[in-house]
Amino acid sequence: MCNLGHDHHANAFGFLVDAPEIRALISETRRLSREVTDTAARVEALKPAFGVLLAADNWLPDAFARPDDSSKMGGGIGQYALYRAEDGSLCLFSLVIPVGAETPVHDHLAWGIVGIYRGRQDETVYRRLDDGRDAGRAKLEVAKRQTLARGEFYPLLPPVDDIHYVKTTSDTPSVSIHLLANDTACVWRHRFEPASGIVTPFRSGYANAPCPDAAAG
Ligand SMILES: [Fe+2]
Repeated sequence: MCNLGHDHHANAFGFLVDAPEIRALISETRRLSREVTDTAARVEALKPAFGVLLAADNWLPDAFARPDDSSKMGGGIGQYALYRAEDGSLCLFSLVIPVGAETPVHDHLAWGIVGIYRGRQDETVYRRLDDGRDAGRAKLEVAKRQTLARGEFYPLLPPVDDIHYVKTTSDTPSVSIHLLANDTACVWRHRFEPASGIVTPFRSGYANAPCPDAAAG
């Protein structure tokens, strides 16, 4: 059910939050995607524009910055689409993780950039030791851990460092902003259980927009 006071179907794509700061970042991402073919160089070139959005106040509505009790990720974690390209090539979303909650261990399957807008998170990144041949199993070990405070951000450049989980360590919910070159919450990704090695298909879903094959009716 929608509790954001708008029609899901009319607003499922494009600028779900129409703010000049968001339009500026999407425009710059489009420009760099045309002009910079190397993914790592493109993400590096995106950092200044992403930093501007992270540093700006008053563009994120409260409805996109609160926990979601119906979360498919569990733990009250809210994932809210701010911008979605209809062709699935780009999205911007907020991720709200309540105090003490953590995401499952998951992958992203697209390049992007992620930054902290409010609160603080601990991130644990895994490296994969097996060859990925068995779709249901993965052998993982911790590659690095880092603490991320407001204004800090990191690139996503799969397959390197693409598997991680994050946990809120501030005494208020953390809000992170994610720009990724797919429709992240609607693509089938993976969740991992590092101790047992079990991998399961995972689609997190947005709290405020349906995924394409769930949008009919
Ligand atoms: Fe993630």
